[in-house]
Amino acid sequence: MSKKFFIQTWGCQMNDHDGEKLTGLMLRDGYEEVKSSKEADIVLLNTCSIREKAVHKVFSELGRLKKEKLQRPLTIGITGCLAQQEQAHLFTRAPQIDFVLGTMALDKLPEVLTQAQINGEKSINVGDYPDNHLFPTEIAKRKPTAKALVTIIEGCNHACTYCIVPRTRGIERSRPFQSILDEVKRLVDEGYREIELLGQNVNSFQGGCNFTELLRKVSAVEGLEWLRFTTSHPMNFTKELAFEIVSNPKIAPFLHLPVQSGSNAVLKRMLREYTIEEYLERLAYLGSGRSQLCLSTDFIVGFPGESEQDFQKTLDLLDEVRFETSFSFIYSLRPGTSAVRLKDDLPAEVKQERLLRLQSRQAHWTLLDNQKMIGKIVNARIENPILNDQGFWIARTGSSKTVHLQGKAGRGPEMGQLITAQISGASPHFLAAELI
Ligand code: SAH
Ligand code: SF4
Ligand code: F3S
Repeated sequence: MSKKFFIQTWGCQMNDHDGEKLTGLMLRDGYEEVKSSKEADIVLLNTCSIREKAVHKVFSELGRLKKEKLQRPLTIGITGCLAQQEQAHLFTRAPQIDFVLGTMALDKLPEVLTQAQINGEKSINVGDYPDNHLFPTEIAKRKPTAKALVTIIEGCNHACTYCIVPRTRGIERSRPFQSILDEVKRLVDEGYREIELLGQNVNSFQGGCNFTELLRKVSAVEGLEWLRFTTSHPMNFTKELAFEIVSNPKIAPFLHLPVQSGSNAVLKRMLREYTIEEYLERLAYLGSGRSQLCLSTDFIVGFPGESEQDFQKTLDLLDEVRFETSFSFIYSLRPGTSAVRLKDDLPAEVKQERLLRLQSRQAHWTLLDNQKMIGKIVNARIENPILNDQGFWIARTGSSKTVHLQGKAGRGPEMGQLITAQISGASPHFLAAELI
């Protein structure tokens, strides 16, 4: 009987997609995928270490698995960013771990797993394999979702002082554009109508053409309806790219351009490489197309030395740009990053209070934006075709807004289907709509 495995993934979409590659490797080698760790002989924790909370989640799951391992044979492997960051230290911190596999060594999973299983030894591979961006993606076993994730660039060449990613993912390596195009064509043939191009910094892509040219090539693939991408760094955001985004109808009208702070003093300590004036200049490249676009950003609050005035500048920026949505986080110290050396004496309650103020300001602007949609007719793609407890199907618009569709029992829409609906209500977190 074949052994059963379960993979739990945390973190960004790039890590989600790595989870799909790991799943593909396991299935190729004859293992059977199960729906929970309770049924599994092998559990892979595909981890994230962007903030301390993400790391806590891994150790709390490891604590639970340790008890299970006392009851029955269980192989536990750690992959992802925490594996790359902590390497062999993980065996000391959590002796229940059997193997550790780094982010660049995904394709070495079979060797590491065999060694851990056959010899019962601890095994590890956290080597630098800078050509891991050439992973044969046809092996990946994608989840049955409405859009397919496609990695175009690995690593990051920026050096933001708070960020662990350059350490966990290495320097930038772009995939050759032809291999990306071949993959997108294959995915469209399989039935996907929406593709999301992934990278820590997609707009510094250099795989035989620049990112704007890549968008043009990919969007020309016949049958593709929406093209998305994430994430962009403001310093690599060009006029040419802005023009492509607002003028190419295949590119979904959504742009995530992380700003982090509204204060130049804080941005300087973060080593973000731009001032607020430069960030706004780049947004202005979008011209009148900005009004058709849902603009999203990331904020870090409570960065070392952030004064109340600095924070006020972040609120002012939010009011000025009126981002349609944003993701905000309290600064989390990451061991090994250069921000560790900055004095961080802001009380936790102050950071928490700033986060809440920022989030409620954002909710105000998101709600206003969503209310403007009431009565309008939109296209949206079904992301969950199973009626939920409240009687909704879930869909997403091109501008990435979540839509709760009033459903009815019986045969509903299909996963990934593009539907037309009329917006009937709005909250800061979703739009309510009826199928037409
Ligand atoms: N490459 C992307 C971001 C990847 S990390 C970019 O540069 O835009 C996603 C987000 O996590 C970041 O934009 C930042 O807002 C947040 N983040 C990263 N490190 C963090 C830390 N140490 N503490 C809090 N938030 C952090
Ligand atoms: Fe981290 Fe900065 Fe690179 Fe983004 S650009 S991954 S925040 S170092
Ligand atoms: Fe987390 Fe690594 Fe992604 S730290 S956010 S899983 S690149």
